[in-house]
Amino acid sequence: MDKLAITGGAQLEGSVTISGAKNATLPILAATLLTDEPVCISNVPHLQDVTTTIELLGRMGAKVTVHEQMEIEVDAAEITERQAPYDLVKTMRASILVLGPLLGRFGEADVSLPGGCAIGARPIDVHVKGLQAMGADVDIIDGYIRARAQRLHGAHIVMDVVSVTGTENLLMAAVLAEGETILENAAKEPEVEDLAEFLISMGASISGAGSSKMTVRGVERLHGTNYRVQPDRIEAGTFLVAAAITGGHLRLKKVNPSHLENVLQKLQQAGASIEIGDDWIELDMRGRELKSVDISTEVYPGFPTDMQAQFVVLDAVANGAAAVTENIFENRFMHIPELQRMGANISLSGNTAVVRGVNQLKAAPVMATDLRASASLVLAGLVAEGETIVDRIYHIDRGYECIEEKLRQIGAQIRRLP
Ligand code: UD1
Repeated sequence: MDKLAITGGAQLEGSVTISGAKNATLPILAATLLTDEPVCISNVPHLQDVTTTIELLGRMGAKVTVHEQMEIEVDAAEITERQAPYDLVKTMRASILVLGPLLGRFGEADVSLPGGCAIGARPIDVHVKGLQAMGADVDIIDGYIRARAQRLHGAHIVMDVVSVTGTENLLMAAVLAEGETILENAAKEPEVEDLAEFLISMGASISGAGSSKMTVRGVERLHGTNYRVQPDRIEAGTFLVAAAITGGHLRLKKVNPSHLENVLQKLQQAGASIEIGDDWIELDMRGRELKSVDISTEVYPGFPTDMQAQFVVLDAVANGAAAVTENIFENRFMHIPELQRMGANISLSGNTAVVRGVNQLKAAPVMATDLRASASLVLAGLVAEGETIVDRIYHIDRGYECIEEKLRQIGAQIRRLP
């Protein structure tokens, strides 16, 4: 199992090109199942979760071609297996995203239940109730969600909780349904908007994407398209934190600053100087004092839960004390015991971590437990004294493209140990 070895202390300086967004790519790849015409997707990040999705599509019978620079062509004309098996779903919960498209186009889908997850229970009631409202029979049999429908029909659905993949699944199911579907309490995340734009480019009729109410008018069929995936706002935020905590100076290229408003505001509060352009962000922390910032995670446009662990590290080395409250997932604090082992002063009470900044973290062998927790351990390694070894980094490879190469390019001392 690969590990990362990081020697702390380098001030990061230079520029990094941000990759395509993982959480936009996964639903867009799933949505290619909605048409029998070839679809071409560019700016796809080279990540383990993307490889898993390609394998899933391939097992169903889709022909997937990976061209240069991760341009991916999917031809889903012949889908023989309408199933997402356990061995793939267990490694990537987002496999549930094939449920809506399979049911919408073929009227049948068998998707393994994702089961528990390191960051909390993560139920699927929003997905199931919404599909039932659109006329599907949904049963749970032998650990599989078994969904059947003649043709889905439009429905007025008010989702109980704001769920990103729940909204995406129902959106993908609705585009080929008969009549109009209204999705209320929908997720407003930029990745949902990207999926909607992709579906519109295939001929879908959708309005309101990016707001909490979406209206979908079902169409008979969708056609092929070429589409470029939006930049990854979480990768961007993670690199900005890396620059801030090392007192560095970083320019991010090919990024969408409007997706990061809340994160940029928090970085400014923490003392960073930030400039933005159409598709770039520059952060300068040289000679500036790093100050603690309170964080409370919310659905978009609030502060993203996927940036919480990274800001715990920022607070762990900043001047002052701060409260970090996690409101989206229970049990998303598994980075904390690892950071404590590196000398961080953090006490946990319910869903709030009180973080008191210390002068210096100390290197230690640490273990990655989930995607964003792993990123936080890499960040901690960048500022710790000595060499930090981060084990189980397959979690990082699920969501960060070439993380060690990108960090090395801006001055970090980091290497992969096979
Ligand atoms: C997506 C993102 C993940 C991010 C999360 C929150 C993808 C592939 N993953 O995950 O990176 O951390 O959004 O921004 O896009 N819930 C229910 N019932 C449901 C579904 C969800 O109660 O049927 C609850 C969950 O337990 C959680 C909250 O809703 O407390 C948000 O979960 P959700 O938005 O569904 O997360 P994901 O879509 O799995």
